[in-house]
Amino acid sequence: MASFDNKTMVLCLWLAINFLSTVSSELPRFEHPIRGDQRLKFFVIGDWGRNGAFNQSEVAFQMGRIGEELDIDFVVSTGDNFYDNGLKGEHDPAFIDSFTNIYTAKSLQKQWYTVLGNHDYRGDALAQLSPALRKIDNRWLCLRSFVLNAEIAELFFVDTSPFVKDYFTIPNEHTYDWRGVTPIKIYTENVLKELESALRESTAKWKIVVGHHAIRSVGHHGDTEELVERLLPILRANDVDLYMNGHDHCLEQIGDNQSPIQYLTSGAGSKAWRGDLKGLNRRDLKFFYDGQGFMSVQMTPSDVEIVFYDVFGKVLHKWTMSKQLHDLHPIM
Ligand SMILES: *[C@@H]1O[C@H](CO)[C@@H](O)[C@H](O)[C@H]1NC(C)=O
Repeated sequence: MASFDNKTMVLCLWLAINFLSTVSSELPRFEHPIRGDQRLKFFVIGDWGRNGAFNQSEVAFQMGRIGEELDIDFVVSTGDNFYDNGLKGEHDPAFIDSFTNIYTAKSLQKQWYTVLGNHDYRGDALAQLSPALRKIDNRWLCLRSFVLNAEIAELFFVDTSPFVKDYFTIPNEHTYDWRGVTPIKIYTENVLKELESALRESTAKWKIVVGHHAIRSVGHHGDTEELVERLLPILRANDVDLYMNGHDHCLEQIGDNQSPIQYLTSGAGSKAWRGDLKGLNRRDLKFFYDGQGFMSVQMTPSDVEIVFYDVFGKVLHKWTMSKQLHDLHPIM
């Protein structure tokens, strides 16, 4: 048998990688049929897993109470699910201590659709993606990037951490679990390609993109330039209505100067009150709150209502929008 020399091996590997990256793959898809009343209702929360500390339990209690009133369909988590360094493995007790035993209300016993944040990548990222967690608590569903069809809206979850250059600078004060994500250039290009085709093919009346990192934020981290550069043009070109994220430990709403997109940060599930804000006088800033809380989304085919709540369940900010019928995509 002919034996390959090293150069041939490297060339074959390179060809294989390039071939694989041109094969169009699709984002995993999930269906969440809404119940009778033609209204979609869900919570968005981020940056939460701290064994109940830093008001995590208080926020969870109010989510339970208001979740009952709204009769929510599911919960979206914008990532940084477990602090400080994600999960150590599938059997890390933090999963039960920071999730199962915190969000105990009856109204929160719904599916949780979750992405990974940068802190989750500092631990065993594969553990959070593992079906083994669903056996411990079947509410849990965490994937890197995926599509959720909820009839009235389609939600597109994007794994944003691999886009952020800071996490790849060497030396780095943190270590990250990039298994399954490298080579990073091919991985991120694929995510964008798959997202773009899923958005293009979508006939949903509302298109919502969810990621951990903000595109626009006046909080501690500010805008994520890599996403402004690479992700935002795709959202603008495909009629995305809302972009939802965590990462900054605050609640905020910012408008887009070139499209109807609203940037909604819900990253206030536990530790907050950082106090270092950037550009609070931005013209497109509609709302900002530095403390703990969460966000609800209620939708019909023609209307959306976003509400932000604080740690006492008090309404901090409400925003509504209607779409004219002729703006709606035709139902095929
Ligand atoms: C918990 O929430 C209250 C009310 O907003 C706030 O005063 C307090 O500082 C919060 N605690 C922490 C640890 O952030």
